[in-house]
Amino acid sequence: MKYQRALLADVEGYVPGEQPKIPNIIKLNTNENPYPPSPRVMEALRGLSGDALRKYPDPVSFGFRRACAERYGCEGPEWVVAGNGMDELLAIVLRTFVDPGDTVISTYPTYILYETLAQLHGAKCTLVDLDDAFQLPEFFYAIKGRLCFLPRPNSPSGVCVPLADVERLCQSFDGIVVIDEAYADFADDTCMDFPKRFENAIVMRTFSKSYSLAGARIGAAVARPEIIAEFMKTKDSYNMNAVSQALGLAAMQDYDYMRANVAKVRATRDRLRIALTAMGFVVPPSQSNFLLAQWGGAPDARAIFEQLRDRAILVRYFPVRRLDNALRISIGTEDEADALLRALGEIIRGR
Ligand SMILES: Cc1ncc(COP(=O)(O)O)c(C=O)c1O
Repeated sequence: MKYQRALLADVEGYVPGEQPKIPNIIKLNTNENPYPPSPRVMEALRGLSGDALRKYPDPVSFGFRRACAERYGCEGPEWVVAGNGMDELLAIVLRTFVDPGDTVISTYPTYILYETLAQLHGAKCTLVDLDDAFQLPEFFYAIKGRLCFLPRPNSPSGVCVPLADVERLCQSFDGIVVIDEAYADFADDTCMDFPKRFENAIVMRTFSKSYSLAGARIGAAVARPEIIAEFMKTKDSYNMNAVSQALGLAAMQDYDYMRANVAKVRATRDRLRIALTAMGFVVPPSQSNFLLAQWGGAPDARAIFEQLRDRAILVRYFPVRRLDNALRISIGTEDEADALLRALGEIIRGR
């Protein structure tokens, strides 16, 4: 129930089972990709046979994992586990490596689901405040725990901690370090080689963002084969369905298409950041497909969020400490960015 609430909280304005009532809604609240999946993915979907659906899928998603291993520079599929979205892999990693009563650590702010999943698992969750630039404080490295979740880029700030800090964390932390790279395709660099260099590092990826496949629920985790073997014991037998395996594979085969969409999103992101800054927002340098626009003026951030919603523009507002003066804005198309800027201009000028 709690888990479902956390998920639904992520889909502001969504009523289960109902289609959005407002036509032409501009949806910039859940960090989806505004561009469609690759034509090769759609072709793979149309090409699925009835037989592929009649039978159980490959329980170990071998073809998909082999393609991930190639793409991520690993020696073979034994370095990869596939998941029904990254959220499933976050739950599996807790089931696999954390006992009830153990401590899980992360930062504040961070991806909301870590704490929810840890609590459901009966683990304690310690969230350590990031500094004003959304960087790790010095004492973070001294904290003990069984597992650490580090989103890089961070959600909801979009900021990356330097690679050197993640290296230091992997060296100093006793337990498993999960580096959540949900948004790494939009960033300048990645920790994908960390599992080779650090035995406690797990890097997770999702196909929901850069590959435009949030609806297909596709995720992957990369780690040393000993760690992946433990995942394989605790995951559900058929945790990745046949359709998702096929679509994930097709998406990776059209890597250039994904990179072209990412380039468009990054260009819009950088333009939007400049425009929002000119309007008076303080916007940390995002390496992701969203911006955290912090606002100290009038009307306040909640009122701006509500007035945008009245204009059928959905952004994310978090009524919590350190974020209640900000809006998290997913990067849409160029036209959507223009519509957002027009609406914000009117709201701020009080029209
Ligand atoms: C930081 C972070 N990690 C993981 C996820 C989950 O991704 P998936 O859609 O693959 O479950 C999200 C989704 O928004 C996210 O923001």
